[in-house]
Amino acid sequence: MDTQTTYNYKVVRQFAVMTVVWGIVGMLVGVIIAAQLVWPQLNFDLPWLTYSRLRPLHTNAVIFAFGGSALFTTSYYVVQRTCQVRLISDKLAAFTFWGWTLIILLAAITLPLGITTSKEYAELEWPIDILIAVVWVTYAIVFFGTVLKRKTPHIYVANWFFGAFIITVAILHIVNSAALPISMTKSYSVYAGTIDAMVQWWYGHNAVGFFLTAGFLGIMYYFVPKQAGRPVFSYRLSVVHFWSLISIYMWAGPHHLHYTALPDWTQSLGMAFSILLLAPSWGGMINGIMTLSGAWHKLRTDPILKFLIVSLSFYGMSTFEGPMMSIKTVNALSHYTDWTIGHVHSGALGWVAMVSIGAIYALIPHLFGRKQMYSIKLIDTHFWISTIGVVLYIVSMWIAGVMQGLMWRAVNADGTLTYSFVESLERMYPYYIVRLLGGAMFFVGMLIMAYNMWKTIAGSEPADDAIPQTA
Ligand code: HEM
Ligand code: HEM
Repeated sequence: MDTQTTYNYKVVRQFAVMTVVWGIVGMLVGVIIAAQLVWPQLNFDLPWLTYSRLRPLHTNAVIFAFGGSALFTTSYYVVQRTCQVRLISDKLAAFTFWGWTLIILLAAITLPLGITTSKEYAELEWPIDILIAVVWVTYAIVFFGTVLKRKTPHIYVANWFFGAFIITVAILHIVNSAALPISMTKSYSVYAGTIDAMVQWWYGHNAVGFFLTAGFLGIMYYFVPKQAGRPVFSYRLSVVHFWSLISIYMWAGPHHLHYTALPDWTQSLGMAFSILLLAPSWGGMINGIMTLSGAWHKLRTDPILKFLIVSLSFYGMSTFEGPMMSIKTVNALSHYTDWTIGHVHSGALGWVAMVSIGAIYALIPHLFGRKQMYSIKLIDTHFWISTIGVVLYIVSMWIAGVMQGLMWRAVNADGTLTYSFVESLERMYPYYIVRLLGGAMFFVGMLIMAYNMWKTIAGSEPADDAIPQTA
């Protein structure tokens, strides 16, 4: 069967290439803001280069442009392969690609101009929000329509995770974006005060749970077994993993609002559910890692598998750290500090970016009809440079965060503060430089990936002998 014509690979190819492109753009902005935290004058006194405007540009670019493209790529590929049918509509699929690209471009224009709702991860103004809703509903139609048309008797577990991610993100986005427009570029949330905060962090936390986790678990359930050449460790565990994860995530949002005007019992409930969340998260991680049983030796030669497995280790680490940070007394120390930033990036770089990179490397040769990536050695170099980069990033932020927390709460015998805020800031410089270095290394890894991808697509002769790839 000629898979190139049976399936709609065009849209998968488009999203795959854009994943790398948006990864480079989003991480470059990350490196720039990391540098601005060391040398604030790097904003050149231009309003559109100020930290406050570039920071949301970074988060939107890495989460929605890079992460989103990785999810579109893999979900469109996996749903076709596991249901053994073509996407139900090439036109609708193309609409999602061009619509998503337009949304990203609009974000890249409006955020530096300072046009924002100022709700974190939901900064885009109402006309763009409407476009997002339309594109997302179309995505749901294409995905679920394809599942319905499937030739296989059952629905493979990866599709369950992709499906939950698609439905939940639609609900979160539509509910949280409800707003009263007062002009084309300004609107106000329909929710007020504490309720606004509650809805925002119900959205924000589930954006983590479903956008940055459930969809990527879908990637894990397809690509880890495929690359390891082994069936998934336990299908039964994957079903328990799915239902427990999606039912617990929904309730954990209030851990973002500890010690605020939110009723106390709501905060405690959020904390309790966050602690519970450790169980399904680790169940999933173990299921992924144990899939390698009997194939551990492949880790020695296959850098794609290294990306996938190390990403799972970071997933385990960040989902251990998260429940711990949700405990109110721990949060009293970690909140507002760089510890949160370290946690975010162990999840975002270590888990989300690395699992996406592994999946894209596995897919590229297959999508473009090549036997393997141009250079396996370069994938290995990419693996090491990014792993060291993530470790430098998160370790520096952990130290910086705990130091900040302790300095802010230190008091003298007479009850006055031991340190001023500026003193704590001064102590941060060495750590911010290490973070910049770690981030820059991760960014360079993405450039290596782009080169390798380019040479593969161009059909260059493989630069080195290596293991054949599967996808
Ligand atoms: C080269 C890689 C990266 C660098 C250098 C970088 C750098 C940064 C910096 C400097 C901040 C602001 C921290 C602060 O305000 O104190 C930030 C925030 C953030 N970044 Fe990254 N980042 C990178 C990659 C990523 C990726 C791949 C993702 C997601 C997939 C991501 C998600 C986020 C999020 C969600 C925040 C906001 C965190 C919060 O508000 O607590 N970053 N990043
Ligand atoms: C069991 C799973 C997890 C739990 C219980 C959890 C819990 C937490 C807690 C308590 C905070 C700090 C809130 C605050 O003090 O403001 C936080 C922040 C954050 N976490 Fe997690 N986390 C988990 C997994 C993850 C993963 C896997 C990722 C990324 C892929 C992630 C991304 C984030 C982001 C982006 C923030 C910053 C939100 C903001 O303030 O802008 N988390 N998480």
